[in-house]
Amino acid sequence: KFKGIIFDLDGVITDTAEYHYIAWKHLAKKLDIEIDREFNETLKGISRSESLEKILINGDKEKKYTEKEKEELADSKNDYYLTLLEKLTPNDVMENIVETLKYLKENNIKVALASASKNAPLILDKLELRDYFEVIVDPSSVKQGKPAPDIFLEGARLIGLNPNDCIGVEDSEAGVIAINDSNMLSIGIGSEENLNHADVVIPSTKILKGTIENLM
Ligand code: G6P
Ligand code: MG
Repeated sequence: KFKGIIFDLDGVITDTAEYHYIAWKHLAKKLDIEIDREFNETLKGISRSESLEKILINGDKEKKYTEKEKEELADSKNDYYLTLLEKLTPNDVMENIVETLKYLKENNIKVALASASKNAPLILDKLELRDYFEVIVDPSSVKQGKPAPDIFLEGARLIGLNPNDCIGVEDSEAGVIAINDSNMLSIGIGSEENLNHADVVIPSTKILKGTIENLM
């Protein structure tokens, strides 16, 4: 029934969502800002610069940062994040993801990546998964980030499919909204509580292949 699957990366293919959290927490601490996991849910799927803005709102309201200072803060978060990525290997691919990608390949279902991360190509290379993806959407090529549907729509366009012939897979609330608004079927990976907008919610990737097979 479906002809294409468009995946998010961080928190779906590998647990880099956790690394992003660690890196943001590290930066926030230096700025005397406290962030917790609940707040972190609102950062998932959101670009680096927008995430920084959200974090700064939690700090000293009097403190104003120049654009240059914000750029430096975002760079320093990314430098720290990159040190965390150094230890990433194919062993860090989430459970059942390789089986899912193999199944999709065998069934000629097109696969694209729609991640807001500028580090996505590097991460797919480190995980040795690059060849499974026909397309990696460049997040800077779309007007609006998640929760806008742009990046999913661009993914569908680049693999030559109608959005309603595609399934989107996400771990973030912003991403699920983006999938829904692009008229794809949404699979949310995580808690029902955070992802209640998704058409289908599964607690982890462990049952992703079976879930997709059942939808076909
Ligand atoms: C994804 C993640 C976010 C991250 C964003 C930008 O959407 O869910 O947590 O901030 O990508 O990633 P980048 O690697 O470009 O900083
Ligand atoms: Mg994600």
